Amino acid sequence: MVAVLVHTSERRSHLRTVGERSTLGTMPRIDDQRYLSHHQYRTPERLAARAALHARFGIGPQGWWSWVFDQLELRPDQHVLEVGAGSGSLWRANRKQVPEGLTVVVTDVSPGMVDEACTTLAGDARFDFATLDVAAIPFTDATFDAVIANHMLYHAPNVAEAVNELARVLRPGGQLFAATNGENHLRELHELIHIAEPRYSPEAVRNGAFSLENAVDVLKSIGPAQVRPFDNRLWVTETEPLVNYALSLWDTEGWTDAPAVDAMRALVEERIRTDAGIRITKDTGLVVVMKAVDCAPSPTGTMPS
Ligand SMILES: C[S@@+](CC[C@H](N)C(=O)[O-])C[C@H]1O[C@@H](n2cnc3c(N)ncnc32)[C@H](O)[C@@H]1O
Repeated sequence: MVAVLVHTSERRSHLRTVGERSTLGTMPRIDDQRYLSHHQYRTPERLAARAALHARFGIGPQGWWSWVFDQLELRPDQHVLEVGAGSGSLWRANRKQVPEGLTVVVTDVSPGMVDEACTTLAGDARFDFATLDVAAIPFTDATFDAVIANHMLYHAPNVAEAVNELARVLRPGGQLFAATNGENHLRELHELIHIAEPRYSPEAVRNGAFSLENAVDVLKSIGPAQVRPFDNRLWVTETEPLVNYALSLWDTEGWTDAPAVDAMRALVEERIRTDAGIRITKDTGLVVVMKAVDCAPSPTGTMPS
């Protein structure tokens, strides 16, 4: 049976008010929670445009969702939480491999994303769904054997607070799997957009306060973390999927009919005509950390048997 839990976060004090559209290139919106849940992730379309580019033009030994799933090494008796799960792609892509007996709570701060996950995974007793903010997880301490936070911690306005929450709901010995990007991720794409529209900054902070470069430090309060890079790159041979990707980003919001879009399309077409495709670096991966098992001595000074 699929249960839909509804949690309304009362932690609204950090929300900033933003207009419907940004002035081009002026506002980094990566941790603007109102913008993220009301615009960027209100519905799954923008995220789907980005995922489509990776799925169609990614080159490497294994696709992203299959690789992530293998890293989790899930067992049938485990209880798993995914925060910022988007539309639940991880579970849809690996549904046949999810062990019977495993239970997963698929969650996101955007109700639109949770609706999509719930609809597409409906009728599967292994999954429950909840709308929740990673900064205020409505579960008691030590509830989960594994917690997954894929490409979402960089959206948290206070990453330390989010990490504390993730650690709190993990049982001792449980693992956090957090995906994020490094500073070279999609470097050529951001440079292309910048050529089409010089006010677009290719150097803008896109991984916020949680990147492959600083993740080990950010997670050290939980335990020693290990970075596992994902071996993949893009070879893009069609114009529109790349343009759609660029237009799905938070710092191109509102560009739909701007001259920059025509310039970008023309540039991409020309590069593909000349070189047969555009090579784009991927710098992404998973950071894995185990919550320490409390090994304080028992009151008698003897270790439990
Ligand atoms: C880049 S998407 C990744 C979605 C999914 N994990 C994936 O990899 O396809 C980031 C997701 O994090 C969610 N998110 C942003 N801020 C959040 C928060 N404070 N708490 C929980 N989810 C959040 C967004 O709504 C969005 O669905």
